[in-house]
Amino acid sequence: MAKVITTHLLESILAEVKPLIGQGRVADYIPALAAVSPYKLGIAISTVEGQHFCAGDASERFSIQSISKVLSLIVAMNHYPEDEIWQRVGKDPSGQPFNSLVQLELEQGKPRNPFINAGALVVCDMLQSRLSAPRQRMLEIVRQLSGAKDIGYDSVVARSEFEHSARNAAIAWLMKSFGNFNNDVSVVLQNYFHYCALQMSCVELARTFLFLADKGKARHLSEPVITPLQSRQVNALMATSGMYQSSGEFAWRVGLPAKSGVGGGIVAIVPHEMAIAVWSPELDSTGNSVAGVAALERLTQQPGHSVF
Ligand code: DON
Repeated sequence: MAKVITTHLLESILAEVKPLIGQGRVADYIPALAAVSPYKLGIAISTVEGQHFCAGDASERFSIQSISKVLSLIVAMNHYPEDEIWQRVGKDPSGQPFNSLVQLELEQGKPRNPFINAGALVVCDMLQSRLSAPRQRMLEIVRQLSGAKDIGYDSVVARSEFEHSARNAAIAWLMKSFGNFNNDVSVVLQNYFHYCALQMSCVELARTFLFLADKGKARHLSEPVITPLQSRQVNALMATSGMYQSSGEFAWRVGLPAKSGVGGGIVAIVPHEMAIAVWSPELDSTGNSVAGVAALERLTQQPGHSVF
């Protein structure tokens, strides 16, 4: 299959999608995110053969936001038997905005999937029960996977989120009322907001997530991150629920397992081939990066890049 990635290809894709800047809106429900320039645009690719390509603002760090929901699930998979995770959180698309409460009430406090806020909060609750220092553990993991020892949390973003946490707190308390939340709500919210406030670049994200293209194995680590089966499962969840309520539309346009964040980042996986990270802060009405999705769409127009 023709899958030739070059820096020139990435640069030309960014040039093609740049005119879309102006069509979306930078997330402003968290004041610290609203301050980011809408003109940032970057892309990075890491391949299972060990090649790395990037273009634009690919080395600039940004708030990875909900992309962290994949990482917290991976940590939970490392610490819990399968059944314990999936009896507390489902595996199906929600079809609802990421911070919706409606379904949660109707479905007795069991979130549809780990990539909506409710699901990620349950996962963070599980990590709080099992780990002595969940925030430190997450830093160790992303530093190890990316190779960047100075990755950290943006404390301004984390604080800003905590100060505007009414909806997430409501979600957590609703789950507590159904017996699906064990720890102190504000402690778990703090962990969750810190995970969202991880600052990483496209280059670091592509390197970090490459194990999902390589059966759960990071080439530079002796131990697998997760098993090949778990890697397949996480890819399946990303393909069905990674892009909020636009996951179907995204599968139609792009056709890759992916996870977005309201910081404007998207990580996409070409199984057995590569991990791709894009960043453009302006979002569409569902919370996905407008130019980021368009860049991935152009990339998958290269023959062979979609899973479908
Ligand atoms: O919980 C929030 O409001 C955000 N930090 C969520 C981040 C995001 O990207 C949307 N998520 N599912």
